[in-house]
Amino acid sequence: MREPVRVVVVGSGRMGSGIARLLLEKRGLALVGMCGRRAERAGTDVGFAVGLGRSLELPLASDLEELVERAHPDVAIQATCSSLSDARAEIEALVGRGVNVISIAEEVAFPRRQHPELAARIDRLAVEHGVSVLGTGINPGFVLDLLVIALSGVCARVDAITATRVNDLSPYGPSVLAAQGVGLAPEAFREGVQSGTVVGHFGFPESIGMVASALGIEVERIEEEREPIVSKVRRETEFVTVEPGQAAGCRHSAVGLAGGRPVITLHHPQQVHPHLEGVETLDAIEIEGSPCVRLAGRPEIPGGIGTIALAVNCIPRVLDAPPGLLSMAEVPPPAALMGDVRDVLRARPETA
Ligand SMILES: NC(=O)c1ccc[n+]([C@@H]2O[C@H](COP(=O)([O-])OP(=O)(O)OC[C@H]3O[C@@H](n4cnc5c(N)ncnc54)[C@H](OP(=O)(O)O)[C@@H]3O)[C@@H](O)[C@H]2O)c1
Repeated sequence: MREPVRVVVVGSGRMGSGIARLLLEKRGLALVGMCGRRAERAGTDVGFAVGLGRSLELPLASDLEELVERAHPDVAIQATCSSLSDARAEIEALVGRGVNVISIAEEVAFPRRQHPELAARIDRLAVEHGVSVLGTGINPGFVLDLLVIALSGVCARVDAITATRVNDLSPYGPSVLAAQGVGLAPEAFREGVQSGTVVGHFGFPESIGMVASALGIEVERIEEEREPIVSKVRRETEFVTVEPGQAAGCRHSAVGLAGGRPVITLHHPQQVHPHLEGVETLDAIEIEGSPCVRLAGRPEIPGGIGTIALAVNCIPRVLDAPPGLLSMAEVPPPAALMGDVRDVLRARPETA
């Protein structure tokens, strides 16, 4: 009888909770623990903490190291933060105890461009302990990078890439809406960009870095632009009301330049209720080259369930990967796990 793959989830926010619920539906995976950063939630039954509505007889932990010593996970899924500096301590604690890591922190998707030294350090630690660290998520991690890379595989030559993701911010909570400048007057929005409180999308350098590295293009510079999407109509969500003349979101783009020429251009305008002004949500990729390639889908792939599914579907990829810090371009593409996860794993001594 093969043992199920033992999984721990770090972070019990929206993504961590969704990941835990999905893990429970998969054959061959066992949720052996969950750790949250909010100390006041420690001891809560995980089943209730993740909105399952029933007990799992598993208390939510607040000490990750103690949880790992007790639960002996094969892999941990990190859903606590966005930046590498914030993700680092949890990743190092896991890797140092021989646990493979899947992280949805945006900067873990491809940290080599922005944080080469820290990336090299995590890579060395992972190799030393014989485990892998993989960053994934809808974006960065899939739409504006992995899909682009996969499509370029049919090209004999690539001259320029443009990829666009138009999405709806309405389902998101107050921290995301604030980071996108939703509800601000245009001047306040621009001041927020200057002071760093309005950031727009987190992950353009990672996506451009991943595409450039996979295609062997030397991107010397990345330029980003953030402008308010000024609403003509009143828009309302649970957390914010946007009056006409205020920002409904952020029109954020980034361009990677090679030889002084734009080669990778990514657009990711995000706003609440785009349909109120007739804006259709979509994902679109255009590659100029030989041949030219176009692929688009409407509406956009939903970011929440998409990220949750990617985190879980990457479990066999990270378990089968060579040790080290890896990007989505360096493991086989993920596939939906519809059968027993153990059947898609390469035979390993401990599970065979
Ligand atoms: N790569 C991608 O495509 C992608 C996609 C989606 C999300 N992400 C990133 O993944 C991270 C997790 O996303 P999420 O949607 O799960 O974020 P979230 O719900 O805000 O949870 C993230 C962290 O915030 C804490 N938290 C949640 N609600 C809180 C509250 N009411 N008060 C205080 N702290 C609270 C959680 O603490 P506990 O640890 O105690 O639970 C958790 O560690 C974010 O940084 C997000 O940007 C990346």
